[in-house]
Amino acid sequence: MAILQATPESIELAVQCLKNGGLVGMPTETVYGLGADASNPDAVKRIFAAKNRPENHPLIVHLASASQLDDWAQAIPESAYKLAQHFCPAPLAFILKKRPEVSEIVTGGQNTVALRIPNHPVALELLRQFNGGIAAPSANRFCRISPTQAQHVADELGEDVDLILDGGACQIGVESTIIDLSGDRPTLLRFGQITRSELEAVLQTDVFIPDSLSQTTVRTAGMMAIHYAPTTPAFRCETRFLLEQLKNDTQKIGVLTCGSMIPASQTRTVIQLPADSVSYAQNLYAKLRELDALKLDFIVVEQPPQSEAWHAINDRLSKATREIG
Ligand code: TXA
Ligand code: MG
Repeated sequence: MAILQATPESIELAVQCLKNGGLVGMPTETVYGLGADASNPDAVKRIFAAKNRPENHPLIVHLASASQLDDWAQAIPESAYKLAQHFCPAPLAFILKKRPEVSEIVTGGQNTVALRIPNHPVALELLRQFNGGIAAPSANRFCRISPTQAQHVADELGEDVDLILDGGACQIGVESTIIDLSGDRPTLLRFGQITRSELEAVLQTDVFIPDSLSQTTVRTAGMMAIHYAPTTPAFRCETRFLLEQLKNDTQKIGVLTCGSMIPASQTRTVIQLPADSVSYAQNLYAKLRELDALKLDFIVVEQPPQSEAWHAINDRLSKATREIG
């Protein structure tokens, strides 16, 4: 495994690696992906092995342009083209009916496929030169925090990835919005930077949100099927309870605040994140990783605001932390 600065030469190496069935760590605007040739089932199987990901958990196929959607999907509704024209390249993945020739290894056995045109110059150049679909989940081990820097990919996957293209820190920092357009009504499957209101404004119709997704406050972490979690026990609490939770100074505590100033001490490491959702999202995973590496007794995250701009962040925090207070 090597981390290579993204240049025309290293992108060419990455293309060769993909063509040979290899795994490439690639930057996108959301998080780093672990890419493989989506039309090579053996290469795609290596993704599942490297991540320890169950094989029924489908992957997103990345494309250079919306004009390739119908290479992978069929019966594409007008709504997909409307959204693609308005947003793409974008942190937005479409679930569409798959073409019969798309391998079920990519789609986890489903008859639908997830497609995304990422808005990152290195990813787009790689996709253009590769001239095909790149299947890429986030480049972390299953259930761990997604990587937002090239070094995170190396730390997560080590020798299980063949080459990592370094395209700098990810601009957005949380995974893409997923919209399912394969059924009767547009359905939001994952919150991301593109919000439900923005999708509805373009589609001129309601976007349905399943119940399980709208519950951004989860009472017991164990209730969630999947966590994007640090290994250190992590909690989140409202600002007004924060100081109360930090009284115990016999334990080593990490604190991630959302704007609040909390004094650090010998036993307490404090990271202050900005109280605007864009910068907060950019930094969240990297800072959780930093705190996780300190081998603390626990981490406390200050609950951010609940408005729509924070939905993606609160969704990830509800999986990474348990609510206390
Ligand atoms: O921002 C992103 O989307 C990043 C970057 C690398 O592009 N990728 C990413 O992939 O987050 P992953 O595999 O970590 O998450 C993909 C999600 C999974 O939760 C999966 O269940 C869902 O997409 N998904 C993929 N195909 C699907 C399908 N056919 N139907 C329903 N959900 C699907
Ligand atoms: Mg993931």
